[in-house]
Amino acid sequence: MAENVQMEKLVALCKRRGFIFQSSEIYGGINGFWDYGPLGVELKRNIKNAWWEDVVRKRDDIVGLDCSIIMNPKVWEASGHLGGFSDPMVDCKESKKRYRADQLLVIYAWDVSPGEEGNSRAEYHFAFVENDQDSYDGAIRKIRKQAKRLGVNPVSNPPVLPFMSGEFQGREELIVGPDTNTPGTLTEPKAFNLMFKSYAGASEDSSSEVYLRPETAQGIFCNWKNVLDTSRMKLPFGIAQIGKAFRNEINPRNFTFRSREFEQMETQFFCRESEAPEWFVHWRDARFQWYIDHGLQSARLRLRNHETDELAHYAKVATDIEYHFPFGISELEGIHNRADFDLLQHQKYAGKDMTYYDDQTKERFIPHVVEFSGGVDRATLAFLCEAYTEDEAPDEKGKMQSRTVMKLHPRLAPIKLAVFPLVKKDGMPEIAREIHQDARAAGLASFYDEKGAVGRRYRRQDEAGTPFCVTVDGQTLKDKTVTIRDRDTLHQDRISLQEVVSYVRERI
Ligand code: GAP
Repeated sequence: MAENVQMEKLVALCKRRGFIFQSSEIYGGINGFWDYGPLGVELKRNIKNAWWEDVVRKRDDIVGLDCSIIMNPKVWEASGHLGGFSDPMVDCKESKKRYRADQLLVIYAWDVSPGEEGNSRAEYHFAFVENDQDSYDGAIRKIRKQAKRLGVNPVSNPPVLPFMSGEFQGREELIVGPDTNTPGTLTEPKAFNLMFKSYAGASEDSSSEVYLRPETAQGIFCNWKNVLDTSRMKLPFGIAQIGKAFRNEINPRNFTFRSREFEQMETQFFCRESEAPEWFVHWRDARFQWYIDHGLQSARLRLRNHETDELAHYAKVATDIEYHFPFGISELEGIHNRADFDLLQHQKYAGKDMTYYDDQTKERFIPHVVEFSGGVDRATLAFLCEAYTEDEAPDEKGKMQSRTVMKLHPRLAPIKLAVFPLVKKDGMPEIAREIHQDARAAGLASFYDEKGAVGRRYRRQDEAGTPFCVTVDGQTLKDKTVTIRDRDTLHQDRISLQEVVSYVRERI
Protein backbone atom coordinates (compact mmCIF):
# COMPACT_ATOMS: atom_id res chain seq x y z
CA MET A 1 0.00 0.00 0.00
CA ALA A 2 1.34 3.45 -0.88
CA GLU A 3 2.56 4.95 2.36
CA ASN A 4 0.56 8.18 2.06
CA VAL A 5 -2.59 6.11 1.41
CA GLN A 6 -1.85 4.11 4.54
CA MET A 7 -1.55 7.37 6.50
CA GLU A 8 -4.89 8.63 5.18
CA LYS A 9 -6.55 5.36 6.10
CA LEU A 10 -5.02 5.42 9.56
CA VAL A 11 -6.18 8.99 10.21
CA ALA A 12 -9.69 8.01 9.06
CA LEU A 13 -9.69 4.94 11.33
CA CYS A 14 -8.47 6.99 14.29
CA LYS A 15 -11.43 9.32 13.89
CA ARG A 16 -13.99 6.62 13.05
CA ARG A 17 -13.07 4.43 16.01
CA GLY A 18 -12.34 7.14 18.55
CA PHE A 19 -8.55 7.02 18.84
CA ILE A 20 -7.73 10.62 17.87
CA PHE A 21 -9.86 13.66 17.00
CA GLN A 22 -8.95 17.12 15.83
CA SER A 23 -9.04 19.55 18.75
CA SER A 24 -12.05 21.94 18.73
CA GLU A 25 -13.27 20.18 15.61
CA ILE A 26 -16.75 21.75 15.73
CA TYR A 27 -15.07 25.15 15.27
CA GLY A 28 -12.96 23.99 12.35
CA GLY A 29 -10.11 22.69 14.51
CA ILE A 30 -6.88 24.39 15.51
CA ASN A 31 -3.60 23.60 13.82
CA GLY A 32 -1.19 21.54 15.92
CA PHE A 33 -3.60 20.41 18.66
CA TRP A 34 -5.27 16.99 19.02
CA ASP A 35 -7.67 15.18 21.32
CA TYR A 36 -7.60 11.50 22.25
CA GLY A 37 -10.93 9.66 22.14
CA PRO A 38 -12.08 6.74 24.32
CA LEU A 39 -9.76 4.20 22.64
CA GLY A 40 -6.89 6.65 22.13
CA VAL A 41 -6.80 7.76 25.74
CA GLU A 42 -6.51 4.13 26.89
CA LEU A 43 -3.76 3.40 24.37
CA LYS A 44 -1.82 6.49 25.41
CA ARG A 45 -2.29 5.72 29.09
CA ASN A 46 -1.08 2.14 28.55
CA ILE A 47 2.05 3.47 26.81
CA LYS A 48 2.75 5.87 29.69
CA ASN A 49 2.06 3.16 32.27
CA ALA A 50 4.34 0.68 30.49
CA TRP A 51 7.11 3.30 30.40
CA TRP A 52 6.61 4.25 34.05
CA GLU A 53 6.55 0.61 35.14
CA ASP A 54 9.71 -0.24 33.20
CA VAL A 55 11.67 2.95 33.86
CA VAL A 56 10.64 3.85 37.43
CA ARG A 57 8.79 1.11 39.31
CA LYS A 58 10.92 -1.85 38.31
CA ARG A 59 14.19 -0.10 39.14
CA ASP A 60 15.87 0.99 42.34
CA ASP A 61 17.87 3.76 40.73
CA ILE A 62 15.13 5.96 39.22
CA VAL A 63 12.49 7.97 41.08
CA GLY A 64 9.59 10.00 39.70
CA LEU A 65 8.54 13.62 39.80
CA ASP A 66 5.58 15.69 38.58
CA CYS A 67 6.38 19.38 38.14
CA SER A 68 4.32 22.41 37.20
CA ILE A 69 4.07 23.44 33.56
CA ILE A 70 4.61 27.13 34.29
CA MET A 71 7.81 27.90 36.16
CA ASN A 72 9.66 31.03 37.24
CA PRO A 73 10.69 32.63 33.90
CA LYS A 74 14.31 32.81 35.10
CA VAL A 75 14.39 29.02 34.56
CA TRP A 76 14.20 29.60 30.81
CA GLU A 77 16.93 32.22 30.90
CA ALA A 78 19.18 29.78 32.70
CA SER A 79 18.29 26.81 30.53
CA GLY A 80 19.07 28.77 27.38
CA HIS A 81 15.55 28.43 26.00
CA LEU A 82 14.85 32.17 26.03
CA GLY A 83 17.97 32.91 24.05
CA GLY A 84 18.49 29.79 22.02
CA PHE A 85 15.29 27.81 21.60
CA SER A 86 14.37 29.00 18.19
CA ASP A 87 13.87 27.68 14.71
CA PRO A 88 14.88 29.54 11.57
CA MET A 89 11.65 30.62 9.92
CA VAL A 90 10.78 31.75 6.42
CA ASP A 91 7.59 33.63 5.51
CA CYS A 92 5.92 33.62 2.12
CA LYS A 93 4.82 37.18 1.38
CA GLU A 94 2.17 35.97 -1.06
CA SER A 95 0.54 32.93 0.56
CA LYS A 96 1.22 34.23 4.11
CA LYS A 97 2.39 30.73 5.01
CA ARG A 98 5.35 30.19 7.30
CA TYR A 99 7.91 27.42 6.91
CA ARG A 100 10.80 26.11 8.93
CA ALA A 101 13.78 27.08 6.83
CA ASP A 102 15.64 23.93 7.83
CA GLN A 103 12.79 21.82 6.45
CA LEU A 104 12.65 23.49 3.06
CA LEU A 105 14.41 21.82 0.18
CA VAL A 106 14.97 23.45 -3.15
CA ILE A 107 15.05 21.72 -6.51
CA TYR A 108 17.86 23.39 -8.35
CA ALA A 109 16.01 22.97 -11.59
CA TRP A 110 16.88 25.70 -13.96
CA ASP A 111 19.86 27.18 -15.57
CA VAL A 112 19.04 27.67 -19.23
CA SER A 113 19.40 30.35 -21.85
CA PRO A 114 15.95 30.89 -23.25
CA GLY A 115 16.39 34.59 -24.15
CA GLU A 116 16.78 35.95 -27.67
CA GLU A 117 20.33 37.16 -27.01
CA GLY A 118 21.33 33.60 -26.36
CA ASN A 119 23.30 34.41 -23.22
CA SER A 120 20.48 35.71 -21.00
CA ARG A 121 20.03 33.07 -18.35
CA ALA A 122 16.81 32.25 -16.59
CA GLU A 123 17.24 30.67 -13.23
CA TYR A 124 14.28 29.27 -11.32
CA HIS A 125 14.37 27.06 -8.31
CA PHE A 126 11.42 25.36 -6.71
CA ALA A 127 11.05 24.95 -2.98
CA PHE A 128 9.12 22.18 -1.27
CA VAL A 129 8.66 21.01 2.29
CA GLU A 130 10.85 18.04 3.18
CA ASN A 131 8.96 14.78 3.72
CA ASP A 132 5.79 16.28 2.23
CA GLN A 133 4.93 14.37 -0.92
CA ASP A 134 2.23 16.85 -2.01
CA SER A 135 4.59 19.74 -1.70
CA TYR A 136 7.27 17.86 -3.68
CA ASP A 137 4.76 16.86 -6.39
CA GLY A 138 3.65 20.49 -6.58
CA ALA A 139 7.24 21.63 -7.16
CA ILE A 140 7.70 19.09 -9.95
CA ARG A 141 4.42 20.18 -11.59
CA LYS A 142 5.59 23.79 -11.49
CA ILE A 143 8.91 22.82 -13.09
CA ARG A 144 7.10 21.09 -15.96
CA LYS A 145 4.81 24.07 -16.50
CA GLN A 146 7.69 26.50 -16.51
CA ALA A 147 9.62 24.29 -18.94
CA LYS A 148 6.67 24.29 -21.30
CA ARG A 149 6.34 28.06 -21.05
CA LEU A 150 9.99 28.58 -21.87
CA GLY A 151 9.98 25.90 -24.55
CA VAL A 152 12.84 23.93 -23.03
CA ASN A 153 13.21 20.46 -21.62
CA PRO A 154 13.32 20.29 -17.85
CA VAL A 155 16.68 19.30 -16.45
CA SER A 156 16.64 15.58 -15.78
CA ASN A 157 17.49 14.55 -12.21
CA PRO A 158 17.80 18.13 -10.95
CA PRO A 159 19.85 18.40 -7.75
CA VAL A 160 17.98 19.03 -4.51
CA LEU A 161 19.63 21.35 -2.01
CA PRO A 162 18.61 22.49 1.47
CA PHE A 163 17.21 26.03 1.45
CA MET A 164 19.66 26.77 4.25
CA SER A 165 22.68 25.76 2.17
CA GLY A 166 24.79 28.79 1.34
CA GLU A 167 23.66 28.43 -2.28
CA PHE A 168 20.50 30.52 -1.89
CA GLN A 169 21.51 33.10 0.69
CA GLY A 170 20.49 36.52 -0.56
CA ARG A 171 19.12 34.95 -3.76
CA GLU A 172 15.60 34.28 -2.50
CA GLU A 173 14.22 36.16 -5.53
CA LEU A 174 15.01 33.10 -7.66
CA ILE A 175 12.98 30.66 -5.59
CA VAL A 176 9.36 29.75 -6.19
CA GLY A 177 7.82 28.93 -2.78
CA PRO A 178 5.87 25.73 -2.06
CA ASP A 179 2.49 27.48 -2.18
CA THR A 180 2.96 30.07 -4.95
CA ASN A 181 3.84 30.21 -8.61
CA THR A 182 5.84 33.42 -8.45
CA PRO A 183 9.54 33.53 -7.65
CA GLY A 184 10.85 35.80 -4.89
CA THR A 185 8.04 35.64 -2.36
CA LEU A 186 10.06 33.90 0.39
CA THR A 187 11.77 36.04 3.03
CA GLU A 188 15.24 35.44 4.44
CA PRO A 189 15.28 33.04 7.43
CA LYS A 190 14.63 34.67 10.82
CA ALA A 191 14.94 33.16 14.30
CA PHE A 192 11.56 32.43 15.91
CA ASN A 193 11.31 31.48 19.59
CA LEU A 194 9.19 28.40 20.07
CA MET A 195 8.01 29.05 23.62
CA PHE A 196 4.36 29.97 24.23
CA LYS A 197 4.13 33.13 26.30
CA SER A 198 1.40 34.01 28.80
CA TYR A 199 0.90 36.20 31.88
CA ALA A 200 0.58 35.08 35.49
CA GLY A 201 -1.68 37.32 37.57
CA ALA A 202 -3.86 40.27 36.74
CA SER A 203 -1.40 42.59 35.00
CA GLU A 204 -0.21 41.98 31.48
CA ASP A 205 3.23 43.52 31.47
CA SER A 206 6.76 42.22 31.18
CA SER A 207 6.99 41.59 34.94
CA SER A 208 4.19 39.01 34.76
CA GLU A 209 5.36 37.22 31.62
CA VAL A 210 5.57 33.45 31.92
CA TYR A 211 6.15 30.59 29.50
CA LEU A 212 4.60 27.17 29.01
CA ARG A 213 7.45 24.70 29.44
CA PRO A 214 8.96 23.53 26.13
CA GLU A 215 10.45 20.43 27.81
CA THR A 216 9.75 18.65 31.10
CA ALA A 217 13.46 18.38 31.89
CA GLN A 218 13.89 21.75 33.62
CA GLY A 219 11.46 20.86 36.42
CA ILE A 220 13.74 17.92 37.17
CA PHE A 221 16.91 20.02 37.20
CA CYS A 222 15.33 22.65 39.45
CA ASN A 223 14.26 19.92 41.89
CA TRP A 224 17.50 17.98 41.77
CA LYS A 225 18.53 19.06 45.26
CA ASN A 226 15.03 18.51 46.70
CA VAL A 227 15.00 14.95 45.40
CA LEU A 228 18.55 14.33 46.58
CA ASP A 229 17.74 15.56 50.09
CA THR A 230 14.40 13.80 50.44
CA SER A 231 15.01 10.47 48.70
CA ARG A 232 18.62 9.98 49.82
CA MET A 233 19.46 8.58 46.38
CA LYS A 234 23.15 8.04 45.60
CA LEU A 235 24.81 8.50 42.23
CA PRO A 236 24.24 7.13 39.69
CA PHE A 237 20.48 7.64 39.71
CA GLY A 238 17.73 9.09 37.59
CA ILE A 239 14.65 11.29 37.95
CA ALA A 240 11.76 10.62 35.61
CA GLN A 241 8.74 12.64 34.62
CA ILE A 242 5.84 12.32 32.20
CA GLY A 243 4.02 15.51 31.32
CA LYS A 244 2.84 18.04 28.82
CA ALA A 245 5.22 20.28 26.91
CA PHE A 246 4.37 23.08 24.50
CA ARG A 247 6.16 24.42 21.45
CA ASN A 248 4.79 26.99 19.07
CA GLU A 249 5.93 24.91 16.09
CA ILE A 250 6.03 26.86 12.84
CA ASN A 251 4.77 23.95 10.80
CA PRO A 252 2.77 21.41 12.78
CA ARG A 253 2.25 18.42 10.50
CA ASN A 254 2.01 14.73 9.88
CA PHE A 255 -1.03 14.17 12.09
CA THR A 256 0.10 14.20 15.74
CA PHE A 257 3.79 13.85 14.88
CA ARG A 258 4.64 17.54 15.20
CA SER A 259 2.10 19.18 17.50
CA ARG A 260 2.13 22.37 19.51
CA GLU A 261 0.94 20.64 22.67
CA PHE A 262 2.35 17.18 23.36
CA GLU A 263 3.51 14.92 26.14
CA GLN A 264 7.04 13.85 26.95
CA MET A 265 8.33 10.92 28.97
CA GLU A 266 11.77 11.98 30.13
CA THR A 267 14.48 10.81 32.47
CA GLN A 268 17.52 12.74 33.59
CA PHE A 269 20.09 10.21 34.71
CA PHE A 270 22.72 11.79 37.00
CA CYS A 271 26.19 10.25 37.15
CA ARG A 272 29.89 11.03 37.32
CA GLU A 273 31.42 12.59 34.22
CA SER A 274 33.59 9.52 33.60
CA GLU A 275 30.52 7.22 33.65
CA ALA A 276 28.36 9.31 31.32
CA PRO A 277 29.51 7.74 28.01
CA GLU A 278 28.74 4.26 29.34
CA TRP A 279 25.28 5.26 30.62
CA PHE A 280 24.62 6.96 27.30
CA VAL A 281 25.16 3.67 25.44
CA HIS A 282 23.18 1.78 28.07
CA TRP A 283 20.10 4.00 27.80
CA ARG A 284 20.32 4.37 24.03
CA ASP A 285 20.24 0.59 23.60
CA ALA A 286 17.67 -0.04 26.34
CA ARG A 287 15.29 2.52 24.89
CA PHE A 288 15.73 1.15 21.35
CA GLN A 289 14.88 -2.34 22.63
CA TRP A 290 11.83 -1.02 24.50
CA TYR A 291 10.16 0.00 21.25
CA ILE A 292 10.90 -3.43 19.73
CA ASP A 293 9.55 -5.17 22.84
CA HIS A 294 6.30 -3.25 22.38
CA GLY A 295 5.80 -4.17 18.77
CA LEU A 296 7.84 -1.90 16.49
CA GLN A 297 9.80 -3.85 13.89
CA SER A 298 13.54 -3.39 14.32
CA ALA A 299 13.82 -2.98 10.54
CA ARG A 300 11.71 0.18 10.79
CA LEU A 301 13.82 1.62 13.63
CA ARG A 302 17.28 3.10 13.50
CA LEU A 303 19.71 5.08 15.60
CA ARG A 304 21.02 8.32 14.18
CA ASN A 305 23.84 10.29 15.76
CA HIS A 306 23.53 14.07 15.64
CA GLU A 307 26.10 15.99 13.66
CA THR A 308 27.87 18.67 15.70
CA ASP A 309 25.98 21.46 13.90
CA GLU A 310 22.53 20.03 14.74
CA LEU A 311 23.12 19.43 18.46
CA ALA A 312 20.67 21.20 20.78
CA HIS A 313 22.30 24.02 22.74
CA TYR A 314 22.49 21.82 25.88
CA ALA A 315 23.80 18.61 24.31
CA LYS A 316 27.36 17.37 24.05
CA VAL A 317 26.43 14.17 22.23
CA ALA A 318 23.01 13.07 20.97
CA THR A 319 21.47 10.09 19.24
CA ASP A 320 17.92 9.91 17.97
CA ILE A 321 15.86 6.77 17.86
CA GLU A 322 14.08 7.11 14.54
CA TYR A 323 11.10 5.24 13.16
CA HIS A 324 10.10 4.75 9.56
CA PHE A 325 6.66 6.40 9.61
CA PRO A 326 4.53 6.28 6.44
CA PHE A 327 5.54 9.93 5.84
CA GLY A 328 9.28 9.30 6.25
CA ILE A 329 11.95 8.40 8.79
CA SER A 330 11.60 10.68 11.80
CA GLU A 331 12.59 11.06 15.44
CA LEU A 332 10.77 9.13 18.15
CA GLU A 333 13.07 9.76 21.08
CA GLY A 334 16.33 11.57 21.80
CA ILE A 335 19.18 10.38 24.03
CA HIS A 336 21.42 13.27 25.04
CA ASN A 337 24.57 13.65 27.04
CA ARG A 338 23.75 17.03 28.61
CA ALA A 339 26.98 16.95 30.64
CA ASP A 340 26.84 19.43 33.56
CA PHE A 341 25.29 22.17 31.42
CA ASP A 342 21.91 22.48 33.17
CA LEU A 343 22.99 22.14 36.80
CA LEU A 344 25.83 24.61 36.24
CA GLN A 345 23.47 27.09 34.60
CA HIS A 346 20.95 26.86 37.47
CA GLN A 347 23.73 27.14 40.04
CA LYS A 348 24.83 30.35 38.30
CA TYR A 349 21.40 31.91 37.68
CA ALA A 350 19.70 30.89 40.95
CA GLY A 351 22.84 31.33 43.04
CA LYS A 352 22.15 27.97 44.75
CA ASP A 353 24.61 25.17 45.31
CA MET A 354 23.89 22.29 42.92
CA THR A 355 26.84 20.08 43.85
CA TYR A 356 26.75 16.48 44.99
CA TYR A 357 28.83 15.30 47.93
CA ASP A 358 30.21 11.77 47.80
CA ASP A 359 30.55 10.51 51.41
CA GLN A 360 33.00 7.80 50.42
CA THR A 361 35.46 9.72 48.26
CA LYS A 362 34.77 13.01 50.11
CA GLU A 363 34.49 14.74 46.75
CA ARG A 364 32.06 17.52 45.88
CA PHE A 365 31.13 17.99 42.22
CA ILE A 366 28.36 18.77 39.73
CA PRO A 367 27.08 15.51 38.26
CA HIS A 368 26.75 14.93 34.55
CA VAL A 369 23.44 14.00 32.99
CA VAL A 370 22.37 11.47 30.40
CA GLU A 371 18.83 12.20 29.28
CA PHE A 372 16.38 10.03 27.40
CA SER A 373 13.39 11.93 26.19
CA GLY A 374 10.57 10.44 24.18
CA GLY A 375 7.31 11.87 22.91
CA VAL A 376 4.23 10.05 24.17
CA ASP A 377 2.23 11.19 21.14
CA ARG A 378 4.97 10.14 18.75
CA ALA A 379 5.23 6.73 20.38
CA THR A 380 1.44 6.42 20.16
CA LEU A 381 1.53 7.34 16.48
CA ALA A 382 4.36 4.88 15.76
CA PHE A 383 2.49 2.05 17.49
CA LEU A 384 -0.67 2.94 15.55
CA CYS A 385 1.21 3.05 12.22
CA GLU A 386 2.89 -0.28 12.93
CA ALA A 387 -0.37 -1.89 14.03
CA TYR A 388 -2.44 -0.87 10.99
CA THR A 389 -2.92 -4.00 8.86
CA GLU A 390 -5.28 -5.00 6.10
CA ASP A 391 -5.70 -8.75 5.65
CA GLU A 392 -8.43 -11.35 5.34
CA ALA A 393 -10.43 -13.30 7.88
CA PRO A 394 -13.23 -15.83 7.45
CA ASP A 395 -16.81 -14.68 8.12
CA GLU A 396 -19.45 -16.85 9.86
CA LYS A 397 -19.84 -18.96 6.72
CA GLY A 398 -16.12 -19.50 6.43
CA LYS A 399 -15.83 -17.17 3.43
CA MET A 400 -12.68 -15.02 3.45
CA GLN A 401 -13.43 -11.30 3.79
CA SER A 402 -11.04 -8.37 3.92
CA ARG A 403 -10.59 -6.76 7.31
CA THR A 404 -8.69 -3.91 8.92
CA VAL A 405 -6.96 -4.96 12.09
CA MET A 406 -4.88 -2.96 14.54
CA LYS A 407 -2.20 -5.40 15.65
CA LEU A 408 -1.30 -3.48 18.79
CA HIS A 409 0.95 -5.11 21.36
CA PRO A 410 -1.41 -6.70 23.97
CA ARG A 411 0.24 -4.68 26.78
CA LEU A 412 -0.74 -1.48 24.96
CA ALA A 413 -4.10 -2.46 23.48
CA PRO A 414 -6.92 -0.26 24.86
CA ILE A 415 -9.26 -3.23 25.33
CA LYS A 416 -7.73 -6.57 26.28
CA LEU A 417 -10.78 -8.76 25.98
CA ALA A 418 -14.21 -8.57 24.33
CA VAL A 419 -17.00 -10.88 25.39
CA PHE A 420 -19.94 -11.81 23.13
CA PRO A 421 -22.99 -13.99 23.55
CA LEU A 422 -23.49 -15.76 20.20
CA VAL A 423 -27.20 -14.92 20.34
CA LYS A 424 -29.28 -12.75 22.66
CA LYS A 425 -31.20 -15.65 24.23
CA ASP A 426 -30.95 -19.00 26.03
CA GLY A 427 -29.08 -17.44 28.95
CA MET A 428 -26.02 -16.65 26.81
CA PRO A 429 -26.02 -12.87 27.56
CA GLU A 430 -26.09 -13.59 31.31
CA ILE A 431 -23.06 -15.89 31.14
CA ALA A 432 -21.20 -13.48 28.86
CA ARG A 433 -21.90 -10.57 31.21
CA GLU A 434 -20.57 -12.58 34.11
CA ILE A 435 -17.31 -13.31 32.27
CA HIS A 436 -17.07 -9.61 31.41
CA GLN A 437 -17.63 -8.53 35.03
CA ASP A 438 -15.12 -11.10 36.34
CA ALA A 439 -12.51 -9.87 33.85
CA ARG A 440 -13.12 -6.27 34.95
CA ALA A 441 -12.92 -7.21 38.61
CA ALA A 442 -9.57 -8.84 37.86
CA GLY A 443 -8.33 -5.56 36.35
CA LEU A 444 -8.61 -6.51 32.67
CA ALA A 445 -10.08 -3.91 30.33
CA SER A 446 -13.04 -5.89 29.02
CA PHE A 447 -15.78 -4.91 26.57
CA TYR A 448 -19.23 -6.54 26.32
CA ASP A 449 -21.04 -6.57 22.99
CA GLU A 450 -24.24 -8.35 22.01
CA LYS A 451 -25.26 -6.23 19.02
CA GLY A 452 -25.26 -7.52 15.42
CA ALA A 453 -23.80 -10.60 13.78
CA VAL A 454 -20.86 -12.06 15.66
CA GLY A 455 -18.63 -11.62 12.58
CA ARG A 456 -19.26 -7.87 12.66
CA ARG A 457 -18.50 -7.77 16.35
CA TYR A 458 -15.15 -9.45 15.65
CA ARG A 459 -14.41 -6.86 12.95
CA ARG A 460 -15.14 -3.99 15.31
CA GLN A 461 -12.78 -5.42 17.89
CA ASP A 462 -10.11 -6.05 15.23
CA GLU A 463 -10.22 -2.34 14.38
CA ALA A 464 -9.96 -1.43 18.05
CA GLY A 465 -6.91 -3.69 18.40
CA THR A 466 -8.52 -6.03 20.99
CA PRO A 467 -6.24 -9.09 21.21
CA PHE A 468 -8.87 -11.59 22.45
CA CYS A 469 -12.57 -12.18 21.85
CA VAL A 470 -14.56 -14.68 23.89
CA THR A 471 -17.82 -16.10 22.54
CA VAL A 472 -20.45 -17.80 24.65
CA ASP A 473 -22.31 -20.32 22.45
CA GLY A 474 -24.58 -23.38 22.61
CA GLN A 475 -21.82 -25.59 23.91
CA THR A 476 -21.14 -23.21 26.80
CA LEU A 477 -24.59 -24.10 28.13
CA LYS A 478 -23.65 -27.80 28.11
CA ASP A 479 -20.04 -27.87 29.32
CA LYS A 480 -19.18 -24.36 30.58
CA THR A 481 -16.55 -23.79 27.88
CA VAL A 482 -16.17 -20.80 25.55
CA THR A 483 -14.23 -20.07 22.39
CA ILE A 484 -11.42 -17.54 22.63
CA ARG A 485 -10.17 -16.04 19.39
CA ASP A 486 -6.71 -14.61 18.81
CA ARG A 487 -6.87 -11.33 16.85
CA ASP A 488 -3.70 -11.93 14.83
CA THR A 489 -3.62 -15.66 14.13
CA LEU A 490 -7.45 -16.03 14.12
CA HIS A 491 -6.84 -19.27 15.97
CA GLN A 492 -9.69 -20.25 18.32
CA ASP A 493 -9.18 -22.23 21.52
CA ARG A 494 -11.93 -23.79 23.57
CA ILE A 495 -11.34 -23.17 27.25
CA SER A 496 -13.39 -23.36 30.42
CA LEU A 497 -15.13 -20.27 31.76
CA GLN A 498 -12.84 -20.18 34.77
CA GLU A 499 -9.73 -20.06 32.62
CA VAL A 500 -10.60 -16.90 30.66
CA VAL A 501 -8.91 -14.36 32.93
CA SER A 502 -5.71 -16.36 33.43
CA TYR A 503 -5.55 -17.22 29.68
CA VAL A 504 -5.61 -13.51 28.75
CA ARG A 505 -3.32 -12.47 31.62
CA GLU A 506 -0.63 -14.93 30.53
CA ARG A 507 -0.65 -13.57 27.02
CA ILE A 508 -0.52 -9.85 27.77
N1 GAP B 1 14.43 17.45 27.03
C1 GAP B 1 14.95 17.15 25.75
C2 GAP B 1 14.02 17.41 24.68
O1 GAP B 1 12.98 18.01 24.87
P1 GAP B 1 13.67 17.02 22.13
O2 GAP B 1 14.44 16.12 21.21
O3 GAP B 1 13.46 18.43 21.75
O4 GAP B 1 14.44 16.92 23.51
C3 GAP B 1 12.19 15.07 22.97
O5 GAP B 1 12.27 16.36 22.44
C4 GAP B 1 11.05 14.31 22.33
O6 GAP B 1 9.83 15.02 22.47
C5 GAP B 1 11.22 14.09 20.83
O7 GAP B 1 12.02 12.96 20.56
C6 GAP B 1 9.78 13.87 20.41
O8 GAP B 1 9.40 12.52 20.59
C7 GAP B 1 9.00 14.75 21.36
N2 GAP B 1 8.65 16.02 20.69
C8 GAP B 1 9.42 17.10 20.53
N3 GAP B 1 8.75 18.06 19.85
C9 GAP B 1 7.53 17.55 19.57
C10 GAP B 1 6.38 18.05 18.88
N4 GAP B 1 6.34 19.28 18.39
N5 GAP B 1 5.29 17.25 18.78
C11 GAP B 1 5.30 16.00 19.31
N6 GAP B 1 6.35 15.48 19.96
C12 GAP B 1 7.46 16.24 20.10
